[in-house]
Amino acid sequence: MDVEAVNKNNHDVDCIDVKEEERKIFYNIIAAFKCYRANALNNVNRREAYLNTLPTEHQEMLAKYRELLQKLRYCIDANNKVIKYIIQDADCLFYNDLDNVCQPQPSSATKVRTQDTHKVQVTLKQIFRDWSIEGQSERDQCYTPIIDEITSFFNPQKCNAEDIKILVPGAGLGRLIYEIAYRGYYCEGNEFSLFMLIASNFVLNRCVIENQCTFYPWVHQYVNNLCRNNQIEPITFPDVSPTKFPPKGTMNMVAGDFLQVYRDMNYWDCIATCFFIDCANNIIEFVELIYGILKPGGIWINLGPLLYHFSDVPHENSIEPTYEDLIIIVRSCGFNILKNRTDLPTKYAQNPSSMHQSEYKSIYLVCKKPESE
Ligand SMILES: C[S@@+](CC[C@H](N)C(=O)[O-])C[C@H]1O[C@@H](n2cnc3c(N)ncnc32)[C@H](O)[C@@H]1O
Repeated sequence: MDVEAVNKNNHDVDCIDVKEEERKIFYNIIAAFKCYRANALNNVNRREAYLNTLPTEHQEMLAKYRELLQKLRYCIDANNKVIKYIIQDADCLFYNDLDNVCQPQPSSATKVRTQDTHKVQVTLKQIFRDWSIEGQSERDQCYTPIIDEITSFFNPQKCNAEDIKILVPGAGLGRLIYEIAYRGYYCEGNEFSLFMLIASNFVLNRCVIENQCTFYPWVHQYVNNLCRNNQIEPITFPDVSPTKFPPKGTMNMVAGDFLQVYRDMNYWDCIATCFFIDCANNIIEFVELIYGILKPGGIWINLGPLLYHFSDVPHENSIEPTYEDLIIIVRSCGFNILKNRTDLPTKYAQNPSSMHQSEYKSIYLVCKKPESE
């Protein structure tokens, strides 16, 4: 299967400084993956050190808890093994055009940002969502309505599915693009997070048999556990191997910011956004671009909440239009709304055994760009 990560980010080719900057970002992210074990073990060690200061009677009551802390170390080591595989050939993926000699290597002095440490843990949970058997119920909630809509609009029995061009911006770890291409369509994912691109490259191109990796996505969740075993629940992935069962259609992953990468107007037959449109500073820019790059008569399918990822991020601009405002925006951009629901129960990378469960009542929109403007 030919899944490539092309950096179409339009500031990549001619400016050495920007290339240098991109390389620095890349190696910072590799450093975050590499520091996973040390950071995660620190968290265990801090707890154990505190435990050791407690009165002996308390420590006796917490004997099993102490055993759990030891088991967490084993799970962290197992996660670290998987992470090593994930990053093994990441630099070839992005920098195979560069002379190895001049590539800066991540040094032990590289300072890993707290948010990047957190993103490594998020990437593990995202693997649970997209590529484990246990993530199936989330995928049924989030991806199945989109796939059903696509197959009903572009019935593979009645059209040549490979001619139907479908774009999935914010593709995450690529399960939705795999499922769409598996049904015979041409499907392109777009993603700007290197955490996602590196991990999806591993699953899509390097996982040759089902369930070849075992990891522990909930090992960092110290709270809301009913049983000690909840925190050390092993998960295997991938539930399906994309190399063993390659899609009938074509599948492609393009790296870069959605707003920067896509310039060809009237190109796509369908755009599917899942938990994506609220990743914008200004959601109108996303809706306008989606409208512009869809062919006349093309379909936009959207599912997800309005969490607005930049809402509380310091130094980031954000507006947070409500669902009512979004409907005005969608119509003002020129779309006809064919389907419109506000009550789809959807979870996102949720630990099924946690005492804390959150679920969105997601928006589901199917919009059509008119045949003639
Ligand atoms: C909430 S996640 C959803 C991922 C996937 N669609 C799913 O449902 O699991 C949003 C994804 O969009 C990506 N993203 C956000 N803004 C983007 C942009 N401007 N261009 C490309 N990708 C973007 C993020 O990196 C993240 O992987």
